[in-house]
Amino acid sequence: MAVRHFLSLSDLSKQELNTLIQRAIELKKLQEQDQCPLLFKNKVLAMVFEKSSTRTRVSFETAMAQCGGSAIFLSQNDTQLGRGEPVGDMARVLSRMVDCIMVRTYAHETIEIFSEYSKVPVINALTDFCHPCQLLADVQTYVEQRGSIQGKRVVWIGDGNNMCHSYIKAAHLFDFELVISTPVDYKPQAELMKKFAANITFISDPEQAVVNADLISTDVWASMGQEAEQKERMQVFKPYQVTNDLLSLAKPDAIFMHCLPAHRGEEVTNEVIEGNQSVVWQQAGNRLHSQKALLEFLMLNKK
Ligand code: CP
Ligand code: NVA
Repeated sequence: MAVRHFLSLSDLSKQELNTLIQRAIELKKLQEQDQCPLLFKNKVLAMVFEKSSTRTRVSFETAMAQCGGSAIFLSQNDTQLGRGEPVGDMARVLSRMVDCIMVRTYAHETIEIFSEYSKVPVINALTDFCHPCQLLADVQTYVEQRGSIQGKRVVWIGDGNNMCHSYIKAAHLFDFELVISTPVDYKPQAELMKKFAANITFISDPEQAVVNADLISTDVWASMGQEAEQKERMQVFKPYQVTNDLLSLAKPDAIFMHCLPAHRGEEVTNEVIEGNQSVVWQQAGNRLHSQKALLEFLMLNKK
């Protein structure tokens, strides 16, 4: 059977994704009762990081440990990748030793090459193009808080970045309505907008965009790798800060998400992130459970 990778949400079918979310909720309940099954006994996950991480590293490592397996953290400073070993060579070597490989890198092409050469499943733990693992946690969180996300109005505010791209794919796969509100020069990739146009509306004005929202989600204004643009971006993105005033224009029971790390006072105010509509801590915690379900699906061919 051909090895399955998770480079983007669309590597799984709609049905597989919905089953995975339900399994994540189930695994979370088992963990809370101290009954986590030893799904990954003797399995090893390699974690290749070319960018920083807190949540992704800890959630994958903990997922493997709690389910009886182990994980190896590989930063580019400590591997031969950092000294120029080709990605395809690393993939062929690692995949002869471990059961699954998680990669966080810059160019999306790097992870595509990695997966071409890998004999074991490769998971995208963030590229400049998308961040599918985060969307698994976001959808799980929505389902836990409010029930099915199907048909809901989700508003993405801020930068048309990697997170926004994954929200676009999620809108199609989980069948929700996505309103994208970014400055006109920071829209998401035009090709994606066109492909998934049926689920997307672009409203540059944030106050108009959030009307009737069930979920508002945002992210930093300068992503990893864009540090040089930070100052310029702060000016352009100012009107896109999620404040209590903006939130008050959404549905009264709307919830607020942020993939974190957050920059309080920039894309979100302290009041909003600490407020009672914010579910960011549940969302971050769910990285653990949704990734357990993902690892199980990929490593154990669980359908
Ligand atoms: N949200 C997220 O992926 O966080 P880290 O960068 O800390 O892994
Ligand atoms: N857009 C952010 C997400 C961090 C989890 C970045 O790429 O830095």
